[in-house]
Amino acid sequence: MADAVEFHDRLLSLGLARVSEAAALASARLIGRGDEKAADQAAVNAMRDQLNLLDINGVVVIGEGERDEAPMLFIGEKVGSGNGPAVDIALDPLEGTTLTAKDMPNALTVIAMAPRGTLLHAPDVYMEKLAIGPGYPVDTVTMDMSPTERIAALARAKGCLPSDITVCILERPRHEAMIAEVRESGAAIRLITDGDVAGVIHCAEAEITGIDMYMGSGGAPEGVLAASALKCMGGQMYGKLLFRNDDERARAARAGITDLNRIYTRDDLVTADVIFAATGVTDGSIVHGIKREIGWLTTETILMRSKTGSVRRMSYRTPMK
Ligand code: FBP
Repeated sequence: MADAVEFHDRLLSLGLARVSEAAALASARLIGRGDEKAADQAAVNAMRDQLNLLDINGVVVIGEGERDEAPMLFIGEKVGSGNGPAVDIALDPLEGTTLTAKDMPNALTVIAMAPRGTLLHAPDVYMEKLAIGPGYPVDTVTMDMSPTERIAALARAKGCLPSDITVCILERPRHEAMIAEVRESGAAIRLITDGDVAGVIHCAEAEITGIDMYMGSGGAPEGVLAASALKCMGGQMYGKLLFRNDDERARAARAGITDLNRIYTRDDLVTADVIFAATGVTDGSIVHGIKREIGWLTTETILMRSKTGSVRRMSYRTPMK
């Protein structure tokens, strides 16, 4: 594929890390200030400015929303200098706006880049998600299994008891039945209030995070970002778009999606090699949050390439502006 040949992901990856760093630094002064919108806007502005410095011919496929609702980093916006490979960009300048406003764990700035036409144009609807980490046979757990069956299957594959499995789930009323069933199965649950990109990524480093499996519904755009990360780190993921009304189905149609019942695998969500960067805003199990010292800010960024499976964690200290 011509675009894939031109996609020099090794060279571009460091630039991508700067983009996510810039967004995190911009939101630093808004951590714990109770203003979600201001934190998000600061991250959006900084991410866009830095992205436009990259020598890419980029188009935002996962962004801040459709053009009429998002003035910046909207879906379809062209980004980069225009001189460079044709790439798709998936981004969330602040994944966990509420986490940031309340200074709660696991807020991240997130961005992924892949050759043009290889990231799913996921509409802004919910997606049912299921993820586990690397090292398990394909389809160890599947979407058509019940939560109990998934836990039993993963425990068998891991060589442990269901009670040794920890599942991460977004704490939402819509997940009440799932949460009850998981508890009934004997597994533990790590409930999160927001931030399911981090929730899914946790599965890829189960020995560090203590999380073996992610399940439940969250944003479909976040699903593509999570799949990008898992494609770099290893791990399996499935996603199914959920539609609550005709407006949501129309969003899917505009995104070019015709099969509304399709179950996407990780590699359907991201069909070619991808690079992924995320910077910690608040402290989390994947990366540290921004550290503030008098006159200085320090960030930690995870930067990954699926082509090589490389995972870098980079610390960056800069004078506070
Ligand atoms: P924001 O940072 O945009 O607020 O999204 C946070 C988030 O928790 C995502 O991680 C998740 O996919 C989605 O919101 C869940 O949506 P909802 O809050 O409607 O359940």
